[in-house]
Amino acid sequence: MPTIHVIDADGAEHVIEGDMKASVMENLCDHALPLDADCGGSCACATCHVLVDADWAARLPEPSLDEQALLEEEPTYQPGRSRLSCQIDFRSELDGLRLTLLPRR
Ligand code: FES
Repeated sequence: MPTIHVIDADGAEHVIEGDMKASVMENLCDHALPLDADCGGSCACATCHVLVDADWAARLPEPSLDEQALLEEEPTYQPGRSRLSCQIDFRSELDGLRLTLLPRR
């Protein structure tokens, strides 16, 4: 089973099994990790903001203009790492993906 490695806001690491029919956000929520996703994946809230490890971020498709615009409004935005987890489809090529959760607002 493909995995996602998640560092929570307290620095604890969680390794979860990834469902390849779901987004990264859905995978995180399904495993009860502390992530808000207020708009349910509609790219409208940015509460699913995560920091993807830089080497993994480079392998992801570019963010859409809407995703990028939302990210750049976030005070915790980090160029090259910030992504909206609802906009990343989890697929087999992302097995081992590493990301960090931000403190909840
Ligand atoms: S859940 Fe709202 S932007 Fe991702």
